[in-house]
Amino acid sequence: MSELNSGGEWVWASAASAIAREAGAGLREFFAQGVATEYKGDADLVTVADRTSEKLIRERLAEAFPEHGIWGEEGTRDRLEGEFRWYVDPLDGTTNFAHGFPQFCVSLGLEQRRAGLPPDQDGTLVAAIIYDPMRDELFVAERGRGALLNGKPMRVSKTPELSEALIATGFPSRKRHANPNIHFYQEFTLRSHGVRRAGSAALDLAYVAVGRLDAFWEFNLNPWDTSAGILLVEEAGGRVTDFAGGHFKLDSREILSSNGLIHAELLGFFDDMFAGRNLAPIPTPQEFAAQRAARAESRE
Ligand code: IPD
Ligand code: CA
Ligand code: CA
Repeated sequence: MSELNSGGEWVWASAASAIAREAGAGLREFFAQGVATEYKGDADLVTVADRTSEKLIRERLAEAFPEHGIWGEEGTRDRLEGEFRWYVDPLDGTTNFAHGFPQFCVSLGLEQRRAGLPPDQDGTLVAAIIYDPMRDELFVAERGRGALLNGKPMRVSKTPELSEALIATGFPSRKRHANPNIHFYQEFTLRSHGVRRAGSAALDLAYVAVGRLDAFWEFNLNPWDTSAGILLVEEAGGRVTDFAGGHFKLDSREILSSNGLIHAELLGFFDDMFAGRNLAPIPTPQEFAAQRAARAESRE
């Protein structure tokens, strides 16, 4: 990866990229061997690869940035009172990983928190690293210094409207029955070129940043899923908000990110969805079965 770009030298991303690459290489080995799966709850999976990756990242970040805090999905909570805090997803896409589906990554997002900031307020995201070890793709950004994929500047897409967009979402692995997202999936499918559900929220965000996707939304994500991807999207010229267009907060439990050009249209759509307006009907399975039976009868 290039050490320099138009905005100057990387402050944190060079060291953190090496750490993400090392963790990703470890994931690649576990993936080749195959690993046993355990349940954290409901359909929430974890493997030895998640834990080993977090341990390595925790040690390496502490060596490279001894003052920095670390908040990791698999339980790390180190030095959280300081000015800087890494949100670590040591393996985003565990369900894919456990099934041998090669779509997963390491995600590291760095937040700068000024002294005295209340715990419920966000600081500023200043560095982002997402590494896909299966494609050897390294997505990197620092605030004000742009965003790169494998050393080359990246920009969001220029798709001007939802009807021409390829978009993505994901579904929670906990409290699945309390989540309405399948309704949004249906409506977005009818209004766009299609909706992908690839199983790694961090990579989905990186793909918005590099223009492979035009938008991404999801309910109930955590800071380790989103922190790096948000900065990538913003530095690549895109937009990230909650579903009402408000400033995104790391604990807001709703994320809408896009190339910026279709953001207003997406927000109008969310408004309609929550109000039950302008929805496109499709047949229920029972209606479809009745139509099918009627067709069969008319052929007899
Ligand atoms: C999951 C992935 C998935 C998203 C889930 C996340 P994990 O993270 O990002 O795409 O739909 O909500 O929990 O558990 O594989 O790190
Ligand atoms: Ca995750
Ligand atoms: Ca994870």
